[in-house]
Parts: sequence; C-alpha cells; structure tokens
Amino acid sequence: MAILYLNGDFVPESEAGISPLDRGFLFGDAIYEVVRFDRGRAYRLGEHLGRMRDGLAAIRLDVSPDFFAPAAERLLAENGLSDEDAFVYAQVSRGAAPRYHAFPPPGTKPTIFAFARQTDPPPPPEGGRAILLTDERWGRCDIKSINLLPNVLAAQKARDAQAMDAILVRDGFALEGTKANLFIVAKGIVRTAPNGPRILPGVTRSAAIEAARRIGLTVEERAFTLEEMFAAQEVFFASTTLWTYPLVSIEGRAIANGKPGPVVKMLREALLAEFRGEPVAAPR
Ligand code: PDD
Repeated sequence: MAILYLNGDFVPESEAGISPLDRGFLFGDAIYEVVRFDRGRAYRLGEHLGRMRDGLAAIRLDVSPDFFAPAAERLLAENGLSDEDAFVYAQVSRGAAPRYHAFPPPGTKPTIFAFARQTDPPPPPEGGRAILLTDERWGRCDIKSINLLPNVLAAQKARDAQAMDAILVRDGFALEGTKANLFIVAKGIVRTAPNGPRILPGVTRSAAIEAARRIGLTVEERAFTLEEMFAAQEVFFASTTLWTYPLVSIEGRAIANGKPGPVVKMLREALLAEFRGEPVAAPR
C-alpha cells in the first residue's frame, strides 16, 4: 500500500485521514504542485517551489514550501521510487474549521499532503488529437489552485471525443490545454501565450522556451489565434508529465501534414537530457 505524507507524518493510505470540514474539500481552498524526479533527482525544483510560494502568497496562506524537499525524498524512498521516473504531488489547504467562507480563525492548521507515484509511460510518438473548448476557468489561472472543475469537465469532453485533451479558447486565442501549456511553430517562430492571469506559468513552458533559444530558434511569448494555430507548422503541449508532445490534429483538422514536426522532437530531447542530467546542447 502507498505511503503518503500528511502533516509531517508518513502513513499508509488506509490510515491517512482528513477532516470532512477541511477547506480544501469544502471550498477548494488550496494550491498544489507536481514535481518530476529522475532516480530521486528533482527537475527544476527551485522553479516549482517558487511557483508554490507565489501561489501560497496569492491565496494568503502562510506556509513555507520547505516541507517539500525532505517529504519528497522520503516518499520516493518509502514507496520504492528512488530509482524510477516518478513524480510527487503536494497540496496545501487552509485546514479544517467550521464552514464560513472567509478565512478561519488564526491558528487553524493548514493541511499539508503529498504522495509519490511512478510516471505514466509516454503517449505514442505519432502525436495526439485535441478538441477546442471555450475556456470557462476563472480569472486567475496563474494560481495552481486545486479548483479544477472546468479542467475536469473539459478533459472529460476530450475523452468522450476520443481526443487526448482539449485546447481552451478565450476571446479567439488558443491559450493552453487542461493540464499543459500550448505552443505553435508559425513562420519558423516558436510561440506560446505570455504568462499572466490567463495561463499557468508552466515550469516545462519556461524550460522549453530556454531550450528553443539555446537551439537558436526565435521564441515569442505572444498569444495566437485559432487561425494562426491552424496555419502553424507545429502545435504542441508542454507539461511536467508530457515534456513536449505534438498535436497532429485539432477538431479533426490536420496540423501541417498531420505528422509531428522537428521542433517538438528537438525540444523534447533537450528537456529529457536536462532531466537526466546529461550535457545540454550548446547554441548553434
Ligand atoms: N498540470 N497548464 C495547466 C492548466 C496545468 O495544469 C499544467 C500542469 C501546466 C504545465 O505546467 P508544468 O510544466 O509546470 O507541469 C500548464 C499538472 C502536471 C497537473 O495538473 O497534473
């Protein structure tokens, strides 16, 4: 049985209990983070913890992310994942208290929870299909909040359509997937929506931007329209679980020739090399 981290303890899943009055459960009053590990070595831990710190500050929850590194190390060890490609999920909620919307009394203990799991095998290399959906999320998509109902509903619509994911569209701009940032390669330029309240500032997104620039490609952080996306040479996702991953068809329309392009592959290889601690390619 999996060993979980809960409020400083490492306990079997069957013994891990949280109050039903927990504000994470009642209000989604919590943030989360997902960090990937290669044989115990975290990928860009500083960036993940920086985002966690920003999220905690944004929701005014006074918790330090310092719990994460030692908890993750022990979770990987306790669950036999220290030599694997694995990830650690951590979530911090405002804790359990009588149900009133505004913050609970001072001294209410936050609930800090984490688990480790082996990374799923990568999806097939020939690329994925996506659908388009109106982005129904709130105005602070930059906060990694556990309030993921719009993402859940969109992911299920994609599954119902036998697509790998949905691309969320706001004001005519294709912004990101339900759990990944979105890129295009258009007229030779790598483009992705700028950081801000409409997208999550993905760690893989910034790694992919760095890798693209290292390779010598031009990168623009500028939102693109559906038209621009359909005219692109490549469209791809970027996330902790996928690295970069090509989308070859959207709403049944092929992207370019319907086959993955070279940029998504180069970036994926660059990110994997960095993850595995191999030398990173020098600029051209
Ligand atoms: N999702 N955009 C959204 C909406 C996300 O939920 C995620 C991550 C990303 C990519 O961020 P990163 O590169 O830091 O993983 C973009 C995680 C993996 C999840 O919810 O499981």
